[in-house]
Amino acid sequence: MIWYPYAQMKTLDPPIKLSHAKGVHLYTEDGLDLIDSVSSWWSVIHGYNHPEMNAAISGQLEKFAHVMLGGITHEPVQRLSAKLEEWLPADLNYCFFSDSGSVAVEVALKMALQFNTNRGSKRDTVLALEHAYHGDTFKAMEVGDDEDYHFAFGSSNEKKKGVIHIPTELPALEKAFADYGERLTCFIVEPLLQGAGGMRMYDVSFLKRARQLCDEYDVLLIFDEVATGFGRTGNRFVADLVTPDILVLGKALTGGYIGHAVTVANTRVWEGFYSDDPTHALMHGPTFMGNALACCAALKSIELFEKGDYMAKIHRIEEITRREMEGFSDPRVKEVRIMGGCVCIEVYNGADIEGFRRFARERGVFSRTFLKYMYAMVPYVIEEWELVKILSVMKEWFAR
Ligand SMILES: Cc1ncc(COP(=O)(O)O)c(C=O)c1O
Repeated sequence: MIWYPYAQMKTLDPPIKLSHAKGVHLYTEDGLDLIDSVSSWWSVIHGYNHPEMNAAISGQLEKFAHVMLGGITHEPVQRLSAKLEEWLPADLNYCFFSDSGSVAVEVALKMALQFNTNRGSKRDTVLALEHAYHGDTFKAMEVGDDEDYHFAFGSSNEKKKGVIHIPTELPALEKAFADYGERLTCFIVEPLLQGAGGMRMYDVSFLKRARQLCDEYDVLLIFDEVATGFGRTGNRFVADLVTPDILVLGKALTGGYIGHAVTVANTRVWEGFYSDDPTHALMHGPTFMGNALACCAALKSIELFEKGDYMAKIHRIEEITRREMEGFSDPRVKEVRIMGGCVCIEVYNGADIEGFRRFARERGVFSRTFLKYMYAMVPYVIEEWELVKILSVMKEWFAR
């Protein structure tokens, strides 16, 4: 029996059964052709079954699929690490690979906590955002702040021990540092766009001030760009605008082909571990870290991103989305939010979008609304007519 994600198995709507996929189209066994508005949880940026991605992986498969990084290294992981070093801003140069975004977040938090213990500091508190989502493992849940995901694991007060959550507002930010600055190990954020917490968008001025305060109070700034990285906000990385000390990437890192993620540290963090003292080492090592197929997928994905001028594609997606959503309103709609390759229609009452998934499917679109949020985060290779169709189906739902 398959146990499906985020679902009460007793009442689960049967999932659609895929036979194959190509570009932005999902083809089901019972003959449906669905335009994918979700990019497989925001990761499949080049679309499905991409010939160059396929070739990159099958080429490596003929050499070897996987080897552990404990005591062994190989060319794909070395090339990926060198590429990220060159491609990422500032001195974000030290790559710790892992198999999923949640694990990469765990590693980032571990790095920040141990960075402090290695230097003999007694700091014990993490600053995070309200409505944050950083993954489903335990520490990631602690810095997350969305009861919709964590309701089974105790009240928010219990959960918040050692973690302070603030809204994305400057006065709250100033107050948190004034009150707790000396106790903070790190400040972790989904920069500019909070995804699973409700596609909430906020201004870069908040991050700029956060950077200043982190410097002033000697606190590490962590950007969880698992969702926002690789162009989703209309910036290549938000880290291009404000530099964090630790950057977490996942999802689109491999073009959505294979689960892989990376926690990238700057020189200062690296040096906090680099020592003759064995107890200062980072004691973490996922079995599949640096998987060779994943590294080849990531290298090809970055090459396609650069060669295909993906930032222009993303800006075009944003332009079309703004044009199509202009003038759209409905009394049930609280807000329409658009940023880069993300559009979200938030309703006042989640019941008002119940049934939309089926409605969309009947019109040739795969959607995954959740709670009060109807959204699209499309593969960047989408054609204009395909994007317009997704947006039209979203608007049509309210026009019924
Ligand atoms: C911002 C953010 N961080 C971490 C994660 C967890 O990534 P994964 O599902 O690969 O564990 C997600 C997943 O949606 C995410 O959006």
